[in-house]
Amino acid sequence: MLDQVHDYDDSKSLTVTAATSKLVVEGVSKWFRTPRATVHALDNVSMQVSDGEVVCVVGPSGCGKSTLLDIIAGLTKPDAGRVLADGHPVTGPGRQRLVVFQEPSLFPWLDVFGNVMFGLGLCPELSSVERREIAHRYLALVGLEKFERAHVHELSGGMKQRVALARALAPDPQVLLMDEPFGALDAMTREHLYDDIQRIWSDSCKTIVFVTHNMREAACLVDRVLLMSKAPGKIIQGFDIPLPRPRSIYDVELVSHAGRIADSLRGTVGGGVPE
Ligand SMILES: Nc1ncnc2c1ncn2[C@@H]1O[C@H](COP(=O)(O)OP(=O)(O)OP(=O)(O)O)[C@@H](O)[C@H]1O
Ligand SMILES: [Mg+2]
Repeated sequence: MLDQVHDYDDSKSLTVTAATSKLVVEGVSKWFRTPRATVHALDNVSMQVSDGEVVCVVGPSGCGKSTLLDIIAGLTKPDAGRVLADGHPVTGPGRQRLVVFQEPSLFPWLDVFGNVMFGLGLCPELSSVERREIAHRYLALVGLEKFERAHVHELSGGMKQRVALARALAPDPQVLLMDEPFGALDAMTREHLYDDIQRIWSDSCKTIVFVTHNMREAACLVDRVLLMSKAPGKIIQGFDIPLPRPRSIYDVELVSHAGRIADSLRGTVGGGVPE
């Protein structure tokens, strides 16, 4: 067991892996300055993610997980350090790195189907018939085939999150960045999705970075869990999850991995601290 847990120092391996990694985060720091305070959100964060690897980031509320995902997505600029995707510096958002946000951000003037079709606008190589077929397929996958013509304001929070998930999956990005993508779903829908998601991810070999507060979810879905400290966030520990797939969240070994991560997380406390 112990050999699967390691204190985190990715800086040593970064030089070697930068050329081959799908994503490299190199010494990223971030401060948010507001009229009231300056918040040191991220402190010298380094990590690398291999092509096709699924990695999860966990940590106390306010430790900078969403900020880190936004920086990897190219939506927020770091104050220090950089992100490389396929060896190229990330300077803005791109079609191959799509994000599912913590708060589902749907277009209220489009219905459910229209929202997923909008995402597919990123794929000009697809015909309109192909786009429609893909949109139907992903909405069925997240269990919303009967709500395709519903308006956004008619949906529950969990349903909105499922539309956001379908919208991000449909264009088939190489990298998927997901911020608590299942947080708003009820337990049964979530467990159902874990099965589907494992199948889709293993078929498509996507590179995925996601954030969760649910340790069993992390152990179920990922190859590696990275634990962040309280703010200013830095990565302090890594956990390999070398279990065969598909995994059940009721699997005894999986629950034991989740327990170890939860124990380490309990050792870190606190939130964003104004300087
Ligand atoms: N746009 C912003 N302006 C000012 N402060 C910000 C901004 N975005 C984030 N912060 C601050 O940066 C810190 C990290 O926030 P972030 O949202 O990344 O945390 P998190 O780990 O995702 O938390 P949670 O688990 O609650 O979602 C917090 O203290 C937050 O208040
Ligand atoms: Mg967050």
